[in-house]
Amino acid sequence: MRLPFLSGSAVEQALSPERAVEAVRGAFVAYARGEWTMPPKVYVPAHPAGDFRAMPALGGGHALLKWVTSFPGNPELGLPTVMGVVLLSDASNGAPVAVLDAAAVTALRTGAAAVLAAETIGRADAETAAVIGAGVNGRAAARTFAARGRVPWLWDVDERRAGAAAEELGCAVAPSFQQALGADLVATVTPGRDVLFGAGSVRPGQHVSLMGADGPGKAEIAAEELGRVRVFCDDWEQASHNGELAHAVEAGKITRDDVTQLGDVLAGTAAGRQSPDDITIFDSTGLAIQDLAIALAAMERANELDLPTIEL
Ligand SMILES: NC(=O)c1ccc[n+]([C@@H]2O[C@H](COP(=O)([O-])OP(=O)(O)OC[C@H]3O[C@@H](n4cnc5c(N)ncnc54)[C@H](O)[C@@H]3O)[C@@H](O)[C@H]2O)c1
Repeated sequence: MRLPFLSGSAVEQALSPERAVEAVRGAFVAYARGEWTMPPKVYVPAHPAGDFRAMPALGGGHALLKWVTSFPGNPELGLPTVMGVVLLSDASNGAPVAVLDAAAVTALRTGAAAVLAAETIGRADAETAAVIGAGVNGRAAARTFAARGRVPWLWDVDERRAGAAAEELGCAVAPSFQQALGADLVATVTPGRDVLFGAGSVRPGQHVSLMGADGPGKAEIAAEELGRVRVFCDDWEQASHNGELAHAVEAGKITRDDVTQLGDVLAGTAAGRQSPDDITIFDSTGLAIQDLAIALAAMERANELDLPTIEL
């Protein structure tokens, strides 16, 4: 049996950020309707260096497993934070169908989710956008904002990285950290070691997609802040145990009834933003169904790409 291998550049050639947004939107809706299924991801801690995640999903006639990392100190070692592989299989007979680079799949779907949430529950008249954290997945969020017609400011503690990313993407570095934090739509994509939004800091009307704190012990917003804003998440099971919400749930500041899943808003079964002054936040832990949507969309173009194969 020979399987095609989609490297990072093949995945990027196969689908644009715009196509990724549409694919991820479809995945959230299919999951909300129960058509696609997904057990919560399994974390395999390798602390203090980082952790591994095993992420399975089923939908669209296929099953997927992503084996992926988050090793936040890796950039200092010249290695990416997020690395791994995706295995796509045929759900009618179990046969493996393709192997894909997990970093590229992750970046496309993470950028897509950050922007999809901002567009869905942010203010319709939002003008400014900012991405905080200009690493691999922050750049993907910035690229997706730009592809959807809203060129964001970039901010990073590493000024050189912010400058290089801004040049690569045709964006500007935010004039200050405070101005980046104050944009109408903000996506935070940092390692989650520092709280970016302290208590009382998110202003009326603002939307923040919190992408970085996707595992135990990480936070980009103060737990107190979650008690006074409208909270959305990608998946309650995952987000209440390992995401930003875990701290607020443990502290008794929010319960299941206070949190709306983005897919339910997209499927039309839950309310999104209800007033221009609502403060909305989206807690993303990253879902295997998003990866499945990207893998399936990439495979639609597989015949047009000159892909190497792996013999099993
Ligand atoms: N929610 C999801 O679906 C999802 C998907 C992928 C990655 N992640 C998470 O997002 C985070 C970033 O991933 P990555 O692959 O982009 O990592 P990366 O190492 O490539 O980039 C992280 C960037 O954040 C910057 N940074 C660190 N602290 C900061 C601060 N206080 N303010 C501003 N910038 C700061 C770093 O300088 C770096 O440029 C990780 O925690 C990762 O686990 C989440």
